[in-house]
Amino acid sequence: MNSNIANAPIGVFDSGVGGLTVLRAVHHQLPSERLLYVADSGHAPYGERNADYITSRCLDIARFLQKQPVKAMVVACNTASVIAIKQLRESCSVPIVGIEPAIKPAAQATRSGVVGVLATSQTTASDGVKKLCELYGKDVEVILKPCPGLVDRIERAELNTAETRQMLITYLSPLLDAGADTIVLGCTHYPFVRDVIQSIVGDSVTVIEPGAAVAKQLSRRLDELQLSSTMNPCNEESRTSFYSTGEVGDVTKIISSLWGRSVFIQSLRTT
Ligand code: DGL
Repeated sequence: MNSNIANAPIGVFDSGVGGLTVLRAVHHQLPSERLLYVADSGHAPYGERNADYITSRCLDIARFLQKQPVKAMVVACNTASVIAIKQLRESCSVPIVGIEPAIKPAAQATRSGVVGVLATSQTTASDGVKKLCELYGKDVEVILKPCPGLVDRIERAELNTAETRQMLITYLSPLLDAGADTIVLGCTHYPFVRDVIQSIVGDSVTVIEPGAAVAKQLSRRLDELQLSSTMNPCNEESRTSFYSTGEVGDVTKIISSLWGRSVFIQSLRTT
């Protein structure tokens, strides 16, 4: 193994702050890995954009990450993964771990036989999610619920406001009325409002968020490819660099509040 490559950072990206929920799990499970996070805040949200736009944004970010260079990438965004992962894998020379709504574990966990999936409009309409429903939804009912507007609220850190709560009640009510006892958070932004969701659906409903499973998959891939870091656990401040295509002052405030400490955001201009 080439230890220079193994000790290069892992690039993690999302349309904005959502990927922090995956970054947090990676941070926790892989303490020796250096991480480089890109929030494409200047172009968020992806969920209501067309597929060509999303793919071109992902390819731009991937180009930037490969120049650093990173040793692996995590597409910490369901929308980007279901739309662009194939093109990303074709155009990048590093391993890429993506994320998809956790329909399989939800179908295995449900007792009522009804699973609700909250995700962006692009994700719920995608062929990838259609395939997951065909594969794992044979014996259970899977209800897909697009949630336009929710990512915008989370991007503004409006997590526990009356308006966000009302929006969530509107999206969750049909799922509860249909008998869903398992709710999949199919967008990486949504774990930031998990507590609000849980308080609406009650304790008898299981809410599944995928960050830990993605970190586990990343760890497995790095091991298989002999790319795991050989360094000692790094100190929290030096191990993660943050970049954003958005307005740095605003993004710094929001990421610092969601990440739980004051972070330095570097401005990123892609083509
Ligand atoms: N966090 C993203 C996801 O997992 C994208 C949300 C958006 O930009 O619309 O789908």
